[in-house]
Amino acid sequence: STRTRLSFEAAMNRLGGRVIGTENAAQFSSAIKGETLEDTIRIVSGYCDLIVMRHTEIGAAQIAATVAAVPVINAGDGAGEHPTQALLDLYSIQKELGRIDGIRIAMIGDLAYGRTVHSLSYMLTNFKNVHIDFIAPDNVRIPVEVKRYLVEKNVSFEESTDMYAAARGADVVYQTRIQKERFKSMEEYEKASGKYTIDARVLEVMREDAIVLHPLPRAGEIDPAVDRDRRAAYFRQAQNGLYMRMALIAKCLS
Ligand code: NCD
Repeated sequence: STRTRLSFEAAMNRLGGRVIGTENAAQFSSAIKGETLEDTIRIVSGYCDLIVMRHTEIGAAQIAATVAAVPVINAGDGAGEHPTQALLDLYSIQKELGRIDGIRIAMIGDLAYGRTVHSLSYMLTNFKNVHIDFIAPDNVRIPVEVKRYLVEKNVSFEESTDMYAAARGADVVYQTRIQKERFKSMEEYEKASGKYTIDARVLEVMREDAIVLHPLPRAGEIDPAVDRDRRAAYFRQAQNGLYMRMALIAKCLS
């Protein structure tokens, strides 16, 4: 998205670096002439010290990293992962709540195609006594590979459709957008959309010291009236993205 791109560019600029870039490379670049991702990355990595890449295909960043001569940051690979978002999510939780160990987090929405949820789930396995409630419409439930990893790492989790029950006990309510662009048909999208909205009624059952996060952009799944509640932390979270990306870039280049 434009937002993620701007946040990486702003981070590099603030560190005193410069950026070169292209938007929608798939449509405008050599890819259209049939060049492989590997070749494109080999060329680009000769022009820069770091590559930040967003791609439509799962695994694209992994492929790029194997041929690049410089570090590659995955800024989202299709419905796969979005690790820098997960890092800023963790930073936001730490900053807002003062801890990550021991939290109960309710992840709500499109858990199948929502890559930020995958990365955040994986990263939460590094902390102690975390409990995750996955709340999703039936056709966009959390992928089995994520569940398998959580089991392997002894992270306690539950799947359910009861948003209120999960919100009631949560320290963090992590709402996500239904990823419209990834559905095979409008009919499938319709089955998943509009099921869970964070509004005044949800705030009512939430703890006073809990927070609402969202990777943004939102598309109706958080009532704008929620913004006035001090538990609405998603704009602070977006701001944290800049600081986290500055730290990450500095680390990659030092
Ligand atoms: C997220 C993404 O791209 O996966 N947004 C973002 O990074 N700004 C979430 C989303 O698109 O819903």
